Amino acid sequence: ADKIRQLTEEIQKLKKERNAIILAHVYQRPEVQEVADIIGDSLELSRKAAATDADVIVFCGVHFMAESAAILSPDKVILLPEENAGCPMADMVTAEELRIKKQQLPEAVVVAYVNTSAEVKAECDICCTSANAVKIVQSIPQDKEIIFIPDKNLGMYVASKTGRPMTLWEGWCNTHDWVTPEEVLRAKEEHPEALVLIHPECRPEVVALADYVSSTTGLIKFARENEAKEYIVGTESGILHQLYKQCPGKEFYLATKRLVCPNMKATTLDKVKRALEIMQPQITVPQEIREKALACLERMLAVK
Ligand code: 13P
Ligand code: SF4
Repeated sequence: ADKIRQLTEEIQKLKKERNAIILAHVYQRPEVQEVADIIGDSLELSRKAAATDADVIVFCGVHFMAESAAILSPDKVILLPEENAGCPMADMVTAEELRIKKQQLPEAVVVAYVNTSAEVKAECDICCTSANAVKIVQSIPQDKEIIFIPDKNLGMYVASKTGRPMTLWEGWCNTHDWVTPEEVLRAKEEHPEALVLIHPECRPEVVALADYVSSTTGLIKFARENEAKEYIVGTESGILHQLYKQCPGKEFYLATKRLVCPNMKATTLDKVKRALEIMQPQITVPQEIREKALACLERMLAVK
């Protein structure tokens, strides 16, 4: 605890010296969330990255998130404290593979989940996150075909909510896709009063067991405002820190112990401090890719 306190103080000091802002996703370690200026889901973090007037953004998350910040704020220094923190789902689609798919369906609008590389975003028409995916798909003219990449689970959820058939990609999140309906049912037996909160990156069989399906921020808001005292949580374990913080007196049970994203846990306070000291690792995006990927992100941010 002393070490955490000391590192936190050192980071705060460095942050001021560098005029930096620290953004953290809710899947980050509790002590990393605590040192952050802004904690949020992917959508909130992109909005903040676009709006901040800090000179430096320290992104405590995974590579595609820092890349999105670099696309939105080309004049700022974007630091990703753990350079190797990637997203296995984002790696399931490459720009080359997508170009081939687009040739097969040349008229289709391509919707990219924000969990994609900048190079892939540059090939797409509009981005979405789990918080706005339904709205984004609804914003596309009814007569247009849609290719939705890369998360087939989120894609199936959005298709069921909007009634829009979409061509899906064979991609998934290793952390969420591993949750089985049996595990959720077992948790419900153990905690019969609990409501079930599920992230749409889970499989449709798991989503079908949910009392509420939403992005991480949506799930936290639901638990805060609902009268129920107990919840089964079907998303990454880092969310428990915010749930307990924001919902005093309530209990939360992870649907399975395997709900841990190793990439999200790779960022530590030591690495945050080091990144601010040496101003590395920096994430940049080549100009040509940046301009195209920016259009894709801006179209998303313009949908209200
Ligand atoms: P959000 O629900 O916070 O947008 O993020 C899901 C996720 O898996 C990010 O990697
Ligand atoms: Fe990627 Fe899933 Fe980890 Fe999010 S939780 S970063 S989608 S692997």
